[in-house]
Amino acid sequence: MNNAYERFVRPLLFLIDAESAHRFTIESLRVASRVDFALRALKVFQPPEKPKRFFGLSFPNQIGLAAGLDKNGVALPAWAALGFGFIEIGTVTAKAQPGNPKPRIFRFPEQSALVNRLGFNNDGADAIARRLSKLRRSGRWPEVPIGINIGKSMTTPLAESTEDYVYSFRLLREFADYIVLNVSSPNTPGLRELQGPEALSELLSAIGAKNLITRRPIVVKIAPDLGPTELERIVATCETNKVAGIIASNTTIDHSPIPSEQDEQGGLSGAPLRQKSTALIRQIVAKSRIPVIASGGIMDAASAREKIEAGAQLLQIYTGLVYRGPGLIREIAKAL
Ligand SMILES: Cc1cc2nc3c(=O)[nH]c(=O)nc-3n(C[C@H](O)[C@H](O)[C@H](O)COP(=O)(O)O)c2cc1C
Repeated sequence: MNNAYERFVRPLLFLIDAESAHRFTIESLRVASRVDFALRALKVFQPPEKPKRFFGLSFPNQIGLAAGLDKNGVALPAWAALGFGFIEIGTVTAKAQPGNPKPRIFRFPEQSALVNRLGFNNDGADAIARRLSKLRRSGRWPEVPIGINIGKSMTTPLAESTEDYVYSFRLLREFADYIVLNVSSPNTPGLRELQGPEALSELLSAIGAKNLITRRPIVVKIAPDLGPTELERIVATCETNKVAGIIASNTTIDHSPIPSEQDEQGGLSGAPLRQKSTALIRQIVAKSRIPVIASGGIMDAASAREKIEAGAQLLQIYTGLVYRGPGLIREIAKAL
């Protein structure tokens, strides 16, 4: 049976284009984040607490907000009030940037999927650090772990990407319980080349050198479109560099589930990504003891359970939230 969001809210949001619906939602949650009674109202969605500890942090439940929904970190109190067990903001880049031309988010309701080619539109590390600092001073900082996902600015040449990540890392580390190095978005040309063993080692050792005192857990977010040898090398590089976790996975460039006449360029997320990202988790868990955060096609309790059974420790949702609404958090939490 459909929940109240699916019956009443989604039909209205789906009347407008995907990016306008996204902007409206974020703006509403940004405003709600400043109003105590609004935050109390959002708490009706809260799931029962099922605390877990991973990489030295305690999570009230295993269900997190995936990167990309709140790229600029404007609504942290609202996400926590909705019941997320952790919140990942970003991708943040060193330079503020507008992203690709619109339209750049596309819905595929028949497949319960989205395609996006946003291209890391965000306010940039400086502005976001100022915003987070203000939130901390306001006393509304949420109690759940906060991840900050960082990536390369579009105009920074690939050869200089390490300095770009280090810049954002230095500004944002004090606000983050963990930092994610995003080397897997398909919408920044060349970014996924940073998954190669040499580039990834260089990035991880540069970040590691700046993390000697702060000691933030470093997490690497990878693509689902990797061959077995590529994956083996990434996992080995992560182990050598004492990476705290791997997020499997980002969106896919395999659009085979989408009819070609409707298709759009970008990364595909949602139900059609489920199997591919679960298979990736199984491959990682078979090779390594690095904790895995599952992302990709978690749309209901069954797909969430599948990720846990594959060996994931934490879950993140994005497309599931668009199609199923915040009731999905409780539906999953109860089933785990
Ligand atoms: C519109 C949109 C924007 C996204 N932006 C980012 C991003 O900025 N950084 C990132 O690491 N992942 C981003 N993602 C990927 C999600 O975090 C997630 O890994 C992916 O969508 C798979 O999960 P899902 O099937 O639950 O959506 C984005 C996804 C969507 C749909």
